[in-house]
Amino acid sequence: MSCHKSYITTPIYYVNDVAHIGHAYTTIIADTLARYSRLIGEDTFFLTGTDEHGQKIEEAAKKRGKETQAYADEISKTFKDLWDDFDISYDKFIRTTDADHKLGVQKAFTAMHKKGDIYKDTYSGHYCISCETFFPETQLVDDEFCPDCGKSTSIVEEESYFFKLSAYEDKLLAWYENNPDCILPKSKRNEVIRFVEGGLNDLSITRTSFDWGVKLPADFNDPKHVMYVWLDALMNYVTALGYGTDDANMDNWPARVHLIGKDILRFHAIYWPAFLMSLDLPLPKHIGAHGWWTRNGEKMSKSKGNVVDPKEVADAYGLENFRYFMLREVPFGGDGDFSQRALMDRINSDLGNDLGNLLNRLIGMSGKYFEGRVECDLVSKYYQAELDEMETSLVKLEPMISELQLHRFLEELWRPLTVANRAIDKYQPWTMIKEGKTEETMALNGLIATILAKVSLMLHAVMPATTTTVCNALGFEITPQTFQNILKDGGILAPFVTEKREPLFPRIEAELLVDARLEALKKEQEEADAKKEAEKKAKKEAKKAGNASTGLASTDGVALIGIDQFFATSLKVGTVVKAEEVPKSKKLLLLQVDVGEAETRQVVAGIKEWYSAEEMLNTQVCVVANLKPAKLMGMLSQGMLLAAKDENGLCMVRPEKAKTNGTPIG
Ligand code: MSP
Repeated sequence: MSCHKSYITTPIYYVNDVAHIGHAYTTIIADTLARYSRLIGEDTFFLTGTDEHGQKIEEAAKKRGKETQAYADEISKTFKDLWDDFDISYDKFIRTTDADHKLGVQKAFTAMHKKGDIYKDTYSGHYCISCETFFPETQLVDDEFCPDCGKSTSIVEEESYFFKLSAYEDKLLAWYENNPDCILPKSKRNEVIRFVEGGLNDLSITRTSFDWGVKLPADFNDPKHVMYVWLDALMNYVTALGYGTDDANMDNWPARVHLIGKDILRFHAIYWPAFLMSLDLPLPKHIGAHGWWTRNGEKMSKSKGNVVDPKEVADAYGLENFRYFMLREVPFGGDGDFSQRALMDRINSDLGNDLGNLLNRLIGMSGKYFEGRVECDLVSKYYQAELDEMETSLVKLEPMISELQLHRFLEELWRPLTVANRAIDKYQPWTMIKEGKTEETMALNGLIATILAKVSLMLHAVMPATTTTVCNALGFEITPQTFQNILKDGGILAPFVTEKREPLFPRIEAELLVDARLEALKKEQEEADAKKEAEKKAKKEAKKAGNASTGLASTDGVALIGIDQFFATSLKVGTVVKAEEVPKSKKLLLLQVDVGEAETRQVVAGIKEWYSAEEMLNTQVCVVANLKPAKLMGMLSQGMLLAAKDENGLCMVRPEKAKTNGTPIG
């Protein structure tokens, strides 16, 4: 058995909001790898935690009227509680507000400075708060919006310390070149190489525009600077091992794999190795970037309001079924759309029919023919071909795990189950027993038990509790020793006696989550589909009508809508009860609009060029009241104001006479 060190990490999660299934996905992959690594006898250290500094967190706390640290404590706890609830086998949960982490980051800053990799300058650029990143003007969308998340950026000019990232271009390229599997899946490595070949700018690594971050080391005597969150956050992978303080677990470094989502690949595959080179530390062996979980094709994110709560799914469908589903359903690196249908199909088919049913068949047949006894010593005498087929699959598994191809791993792992199920249909034990072929029948049961045992051992890291139940039913415990003995050394299962038991995967007939939010999402999707359909139809009809009368498309290219579609928009009269400017924005005003029935809506309106906040205050406006909420510059906007704009500027559309707030327009 090997004693390799195996250090596995998840990203540390931002505490601006609670976890969704995207976060659970990263953590479940990492947990699976950590469990597997322990099972094969590796000395494993598994790290997860929370990323708590930066403007985004500061603002999230402010918005909820909470003190930043208290807010970070609260959300960090929800992550920890969720992982505990999910039985995630982490060895350490780090928080970037931990005192020793902060010390470690400061030590790193000093070390990089000593190395000559840090200098001070001024920076002026377009900054996206949501991504905590500066973008060059050329990368902005429509001169304003963030190329990554689409939100509005703001111009920030500040004094900043810079890291000489440009000096590491060649070294980074050499690292990618010499380590073909440093970034997985391999296709992602090419993207990174192309990016670096395009040239790297030095990286601004401190901020003065806010306060919530790790301060510079005292001897820099520059108290207005705090560290850039990504420098702070990436360092967690080594401060968690004691870097910069007691070095207690630094022998685990370098990491075997940093598990991340593809949106944060650049930080991990470019900045992080450059920082490590500057610190003279070895580089991680692999960076594994998975794809996104989407809903109806859109990335799941709290700001879009389309998140699925992992706890709700796990509670309804079973935690381990959910784990299996997530890993099996999408190729590592690709995106996957979450649907209850797909989850149910996996449970009923793969888990219920293929795995659970096989155990039931074994229990049934051994009970009926042999009073529950199962013996495996004669399997190879009668079923060598089946054993060979099983082995062919089993030997393929390990490389798939190393390459993080967990969907292919599970697919391949299911083949032996098919071999077993097919063998029952082919040899028909019920006929064999009648023909007096007792030995062959016992050996067939032995074959099934052997396959179930080996599959369960390999599946253990994905479904720990379920496979424990299966192996206990087969008379043994799952340990690194039994793993080695049964899977690697060709050990034969000791005779055991089966007992009747409840099915492992009761069939699920209908979607189990009737959670109001999910229902609302479903309804929203149905409505969106219906709308699309109606638009299509309207367009078709318009075209027909236009063609019939003039031979041209009608209405100046504007699609015709039916009256139903018009009434689907809820327009109301409202009064602006509070109006203020949005700092750093040339275009936006932040308005609170009374829309009747004691409801006040926050509306972020792009009207500042034409109206001041005072001018808007206490005036009546027309509000589109059933728009999906959106975020502009990090602020929630729960509606839109009607306005008319021509070459002379913009004016608000208002009721001609004062109307009660909430009066419908139409
Ligand atoms: N704090 C940074 C990571 C710093 S690591 C030094 C961060 N946090 S995050 O909370 O926004 O995201 C954490 C992880 O969740 C990322 O790997 C991200 O890719 C993943 N996911 C967030 N939304 C996701 C989906 N919709 N689907 C799958 N994973 C996604 O980034």
